[in-house]
Amino acid sequence: MQPRVLIVTSEAVPLIKTGGLADVITALALALRAAGVEATVMMPGYATALEHAWNLQPASLDMEFPGGPGRLLCGVMPGMGVPVVLVDTARFRARTANPYVDDSGNEFTDNALCFADLAHAALAVCAGKTSVEPPHVVHANDWHTGLIPALLKLHGLEHIGTMLTIHNIAFQGNFDINLAPKLGIPESMLGADGMEYWGKLSFLKAGITYADRVTTVSESYAREILTPEFGFGMEDALNLRKKDLSAIVNGIDTEVWDPADDQLIARHFSVDCMKGKGICKRDLQTLFGLIPTDPFAPIMGIGSRMSHQKMVDVVLDAVPAMLERHSRLQIVVLGKGEHEYEQGFLELADHFRGRIGVHIGYDERRAHALHAGSDMLLHPSRFEPFGLTPLYAMRYGAMPIASRVGGLIDSIIDAGKSGDPPQEATGVLFDGETAQEMLAAVDRALEIQSNASNWQRIQDNIMRADFGWDGPTANYIEAYAAISGTGSKRLFDRAKQASDHHRQQFDSLPDYHFA
Ligand code: ADP
Ligand code: GLC
Repeated sequence: MQPRVLIVTSEAVPLIKTGGLADVITALALALRAAGVEATVMMPGYATALEHAWNLQPASLDMEFPGGPGRLLCGVMPGMGVPVVLVDTARFRARTANPYVDDSGNEFTDNALCFADLAHAALAVCAGKTSVEPPHVVHANDWHTGLIPALLKLHGLEHIGTMLTIHNIAFQGNFDINLAPKLGIPESMLGADGMEYWGKLSFLKAGITYADRVTTVSESYAREILTPEFGFGMEDALNLRKKDLSAIVNGIDTEVWDPADDQLIARHFSVDCMKGKGICKRDLQTLFGLIPTDPFAPIMGIGSRMSHQKMVDVVLDAVPAMLERHSRLQIVVLGKGEHEYEQGFLELADHFRGRIGVHIGYDERRAHALHAGSDMLLHPSRFEPFGLTPLYAMRYGAMPIASRVGGLIDSIIDAGKSGDPPQEATGVLFDGETAQEMLAAVDRALEIQSNASNWQRIQDNIMRADFGWDGPTANYIEAYAAISGTGSKRLFDRAKQASDHHRQQFDSLPDYHFA
């Protein structure tokens, strides 16, 4: 028998994705399965998920959830052996584009009901009311799944361990507290020591309060969220759980993001043979209408959700000066998000035609092309729990220029202010939220690029950096073992040994060189 984990999430690639959470869930499930853990992903049956999951079969009879009737369907993630359970309700089916907001960017008014349905569906699995085997551990992710630990406790299922991973504390799922009875939450859990948050019912606080273990995705962010500056009002609740709070750092899927074997880029390349990167650069220039297609023009990519978190307001302010100060610089922007930011970039593209190419939309091919063709990636953030995008860029030899916050502090080694970057440097980190501070960081990056030997060293460092899933997987297995009952703890211990063994074998391999 294998240990079983039910990973509950609102997003997982390739069924639906609005951000890094979707990448992390699927990569984690794959890595856990490779280590001998029976990981299953459970998520909403959004229209696109129902359409793309393979071999969907009913896994329950019709059930009554807070938001109405629904049922569970069991299938597999397309193209991989990861089982997926979809919660099929009329409300989730109706979400055909963005899963959280309508076309005007307003949050759907029935989010509380929808995600309470997801939590009640997880409860039904744990209670053995469906054909899905009850897990030893439920791993809940972000506010969408925050009610699950409370529901398990409420229904006498404490023997199932619960973990809440916070991928972004800015999103909290705070709703009218009067909804509680409809969501199946009793009065006894609505106090300040329960899920009440400034008079609201908070799904995230529920998870923080009732999960056996709370984790987040980088060491620095785990420290930051205990402070008022980064805790978004949850710092007190988190400080109360401090002894059960820790970081388990994300990995990146090094098969999906591999310049030596990426079907979405113009030509393959690797750290030992960079010729293909020049062709990818030309492809990017053409794709984004940059003129001239100058092989020596430095290209700075920006690829992210267009939100306040990602400092898009500051980027919009700083771009004109960047282009004026660096006459050969070309900028490529791929993003989707708040309407006014999208509009701002389109105006810049109009004004600086040929020097800045903008694509508004969500586009996987362009995301890969952007990393493959750019020399650097501008990734500013007011806060960043982990930050997958700069790591993807690094794999493709694009140096990150990023804010000194959260996971970015841990994953990027700053080149420093002197003209001579330290041996191990992997990027440029900057403090502050002003256009001046951002401009100074871009100036530094371009100065580094202008020195061939510094540039080569940094490219070498970033392309060889190891951010794979081996270490994180072993850490998750250890944490699952700690919160599961003794019988299942033994099972997890075995999985951990297998995972450690795999890691040792992997670590002892010689450096991989491409032909
Ligand atoms: P966050 O989860 O905060 O958005 P991350 O950097 O961790 O930040 O993850 C973002 C993920 O979303 C990456 O996989 C990135 O490639 C992807 N992404 C963001 N915007 C787009 C877009 N417009 N088109 C394609 N992929 C995008
Ligand atoms: C969130 C964070 C991002 C992180 C991702 C995956 O969306 O904003 O920093 O990389 O989750 O954990």
